[in-house]
Amino acid sequence: MKPTFYITTPIYYPSDKLHIGHSYTTVAADAMARYKRLQGFDVMFVTGSDEHGQKIQRLAEGRNVSPKAYVDPVVASIKELWSLLNISYDRFIRTTDPEHEAAIQYIFQKLYDQGDIYKDEYEGWYCTPCEAFWTETQLNDHKCPDCGRPVELTKEESYFFRLSRYQDRLIELFENQPDFVQPASRANEMLNNFLRPGLDDLCVSRTTFNWGVKVPFDPKHVVYVWIDALSNYITALGYPETTDAFKRYWPADIHLVGKEIIRFHTIIWPAMLMALQIPLPKKVYGHGWLLFKDGKMSKSRGNVVDPVILCRRYGVDAIRYFLLREIPFGADGNFSNEALINRINSDLANDLGNLVSRTTAMIDRYFPEGLPAQRTEEAGDRELQQTCGQLKGRVEAAMEQLQFSQALSEIWLVINRSNKYIDETTPWILARSDENRSRLAAVLFNLAEAIRIISILLQPFMPETPKQIWTFLGLTDPNLTDWSSAEEFGLFRSTGITKNKPIFPRLDLDKELEGLGEELNQPTQPETTDIQDEKQAVEPEWIEIGDFAKVDLRIGRIVRCEKVSGSDKLLCSQVDMGGTTRQILSGIAADYQPEDLLNRLVVVVTNLKPRKIRGLVSEGMLLCAESESECRLLTVDGTIEPGSQVR
Ligand code: MSP
Repeated sequence: MKPTFYITTPIYYPSDKLHIGHSYTTVAADAMARYKRLQGFDVMFVTGSDEHGQKIQRLAEGRNVSPKAYVDPVVASIKELWSLLNISYDRFIRTTDPEHEAAIQYIFQKLYDQGDIYKDEYEGWYCTPCEAFWTETQLNDHKCPDCGRPVELTKEESYFFRLSRYQDRLIELFENQPDFVQPASRANEMLNNFLRPGLDDLCVSRTTFNWGVKVPFDPKHVVYVWIDALSNYITALGYPETTDAFKRYWPADIHLVGKEIIRFHTIIWPAMLMALQIPLPKKVYGHGWLLFKDGKMSKSRGNVVDPVILCRRYGVDAIRYFLLREIPFGADGNFSNEALINRINSDLANDLGNLVSRTTAMIDRYFPEGLPAQRTEEAGDRELQQTCGQLKGRVEAAMEQLQFSQALSEIWLVINRSNKYIDETTPWILARSDENRSRLAAVLFNLAEAIRIISILLQPFMPETPKQIWTFLGLTDPNLTDWSSAEEFGLFRSTGITKNKPIFPRLDLDKELEGLGEELNQPTQPETTDIQDEKQAVEPEWIEIGDFAKVDLRIGRIVRCEKVSGSDKLLCSQVDMGGTTRQILSGIAADYQPEDLLNRLVVVVTNLKPRKIRGLVSEGMLLCAESESECRLLTVDGTIEPGSQVR
């Protein structure tokens, strides 16, 4: 029986069309899956979509559609993207799949029945975009420590998972299995920042929205999305049924994730599995981010790069190559249009493209009847032959460490060595005399053989280009393109060279930069055309409900107010926010006397970064209506409690 290999990507939020950053993870997982299949493993490659949660619910409300109607077309676009990028996944799981939802209820019930989940009251900070809870001390300058965005204070009756119960076993896991989290620096981060300081129990249900899997025994609660999402790795195999797939593929060999979600995968997920008495995955690999001119790519920064545009302009293999080659896997790295075009020109058009076109053109010209058996080797050939023979081992060693860039640079060393071999042996000069025919045959054979080996090893990264090269070279016997055949130098046999054009045409850098820049900056096509509101198309300034939700607006009651000395514009108010008091400065001294404001119920922006004005810290902003001649405070009638949210 074949050995198995189970690899997963994170399941992506279908809140919007996916961008090149998401493609990065999936292309890397695909390269790994293809590599293992080529090696003869029985591979299970799972990806999918993480569809529940408050963010999706809010987005759907903003479009006036049901959450399912919102996500369906986005999920369809994700599948289309994966098909465009040649992603060879075996299973696409949606957290809205009925079998998955039933499995989540089973898991929640089981953990509750055995005392790993209990009911209590939750008060803490919630980051909606990350769907993550934080304690006061974990916040970073009052922002989410993962993404840096504002958090919301939440208080509600909740169910808790006894994460603290698993702290010692988790520490033991990190200490005894140094390979569990990679790269190693990420393991230290988890140990020092989370595990050793002590784990709090985890709030695992919500009542403030309902787009989620209902808690089976208390349906006003929905299951916290990370419990729902992480479980996909086992439900995709059929858990809780003991299916053949589950028995065969679990535990996973690698969960591939971006570094920002390492904590969920290396603390919460193993603890859940320990509680469920299921073996742990063998490895969680946290890769770095593709960074863009303004940092991490996001719609709000306006730096989103659409992979569909890139693939259309340069071809899928070129984009896959760039993603895997440009940045050492694990580290952060920059994406720029210029770097992409330069890589295509230098590595693909020049190095690989020229090697293939020069070699095939010379074989076709000098030996149209095929390379003869009579070949004269020279001592200098040995080095090329040896380097080629060792290449498979080197590529495999890098791939086992998920060092895609390293594996590709090994291949490029041989590509460049081969190009140099052409310059050293000058086949066009050998061709001038009949005496050198058998030497010429040896040179071209060695080159064709180098290309055969290179093209076999390129398959995990670039699924289409090798097939093209085999057609050009007339390599039709599958035994000659089999993965294992790459370790043997000297097998080349052709059924005839096919006339070809450059596999990667050279690009004009300036023209491309201009064209690509223009295309990427065009307003993105409607990502969810089916539910696109017509009005939105003509008025591009609309924001999403999620953008609005980032502003935390609350009611405050002014309990004290005075002029700021030395300023004729500023008033300094002390505002009761329902338990806490904030000091807020406002430029309304021309419109109000301090005593006019006492006890007024006003609208406060609470998550505005505090700033100092005239030596006084202002912790928020009072909303006002402004015309040219006056400024009036927004106040509310009735007796609503300070601290209430404004929606
Ligand atoms: N739904 C969760 C994951 C649940 S897994 C049980 C989630 N989804 S996400 O849509 O936000 O996608 C996150 C993943 O996309 C990251 O972990 C990372 O792998 C990938 N990336 C998104 N932007 C990226 C970059 N700019 N650069 C590299 N990878 C990026 O989190």
